[in-house]
Amino acid sequence: MAGVGAARLTVLLRPSLAGTGPAYAAIAAGLRGLALDGRLPPGARLPSERELAAVLGLSRTTVTAAYDVLRADGYLHSARGAGSRVALPAGRPARPEAAVSSGADRLDLTVAALPAPAVLLDAVTEAAADLRPLLAGHGLHPLGLPDLREAIAAHLSARGLRTTVEQILVTNGALHGWDLLLRSLTRPGDRVLVEEPTYPAVLDAVVAHRLRAVPLPVDSEGWDRTVRAGAAKVAHLTPDFHNPTGFHADSRRRRAVLAALRGAVVVADETFVDVGHPDAPDHPPLASLGPGVVTLGSMSKAFWAGLRIGWVRAEPELVLRLAQSRAGQDLAGPVLDQLVAVRMLARSAEVLPARRRLLQQQRDALVAAMAEHLPTWQVAVPRGGMVLWYELPGAFSTRLATLGQQDGIRLTAGPRFTLGGHHDRRLRLPFTMPASSAGAVAAALAGLVAQLDDVGATTVVPSRWTA
Ligand SMILES: Cc1ncc(COP(=O)(O)O)c(C=O)c1O
Repeated sequence: MAGVGAARLTVLLRPSLAGTGPAYAAIAAGLRGLALDGRLPPGARLPSERELAAVLGLSRTTVTAAYDVLRADGYLHSARGAGSRVALPAGRPARPEAAVSSGADRLDLTVAALPAPAVLLDAVTEAAADLRPLLAGHGLHPLGLPDLREAIAAHLSARGLRTTVEQILVTNGALHGWDLLLRSLTRPGDRVLVEEPTYPAVLDAVVAHRLRAVPLPVDSEGWDRTVRAGAAKVAHLTPDFHNPTGFHADSRRRRAVLAALRGAVVVADETFVDVGHPDAPDHPPLASLGPGVVTLGSMSKAFWAGLRIGWVRAEPELVLRLAQSRAGQDLAGPVLDQLVAVRMLARSAEVLPARRRLLQQQRDALVAAMAEHLPTWQVAVPRGGMVLWYELPGAFSTRLATLGQQDGIRLTAGPRFTLGGHHDRRLRLPFTMPASSAGAVAAALAGLVAQLDDVGATTVVPSRWTA
């Protein structure tokens, strides 16, 4: 197993070292996060303590203390002559990402998505009738069904983003659109700017395409103001109710970030735009503020994730290229689901206000329950979206998720939303459960926290699957 150089490790650890607190603990937490989420695979050789200390500009004692902690916890094996190698504590599966939810968990807090609205069944009945005339054709529509492209264009135009049918490609979710864009716009080794933290699958796609991810720090107050496109070819932004921080950019911030990112293809991921809470202000779509902005959209959050319907809005030429690139992938999307989507979009005026009110109630219920059960946990309450990005009173998010996994409570730990394995003081909690369950959820979490100190080496790791 190849090693990781001191210079590369410094880049990976930089975000962990940015916080306050002892440097040795930050190094240990950073390395643990990198090992847990697979960026430092088991067996990878780490630089010597002296070498890493020199590059980090820290004393050798500091790095030795960090390595000692990791050795004691089973994350590092050192042998004379063989150096120090990354390990996972005994019994951990080597490929934790294989552990996706089977649906049998006591509590699954890894998914930010609502159950379907009741009217979805009506839409399905109508769509079944709509299918009849289409059965005479072959059923393959790489650009998407014409009626759905039209409905999506109208949906975006109604929000102030004038859109023609030719600008729309229907995809199997926004994430599919992101993958197609990376396929078409980048080559391995290119730089891609991604928010940090961000939705883990956005990062996974960047890694899968062998791109170099450049982090753009973001928190509930906004993007790092020093951002520049640099050599980045593509930049992924979530201006509306960012997952996980909840940041909602106003028009000044939108204009500023577009100016700063000139030179890169800016991809505005609008997955959450339709689930602003009733008190959220509207801000102009990013693509209405500058040329060349590509928009990703989805029905997953406002309607139902089980539809697997999303879209890309781009210049017609790019839309055609993206459709062509499906040839080696899925050819085209399922026809019946697209017909259901047409019928659901036609019900936007009925469905969306109810979803937004529901989410606001559920948000308030979870915030109140958490304040009661875990009063030292802090959160900036978002005005849209489906998640709370809690700040914990210590860096134990990964440990909590690990413990939860053993207890049938699935959690996505903070580091999973980062490139560098930091943010172990953060935990994302979706408020997609009914308000009446919020107390039980907060109590279950408080129960886990109470057990933290009793836990030694464990045999499971948190699942990487999250939505
Ligand atoms: C920013 C972001 N983009 C995309 C997705 C996935 O969207 P879809 O279900 O449409 O693929 C999510 C899901 O949480 C998300 O947070």
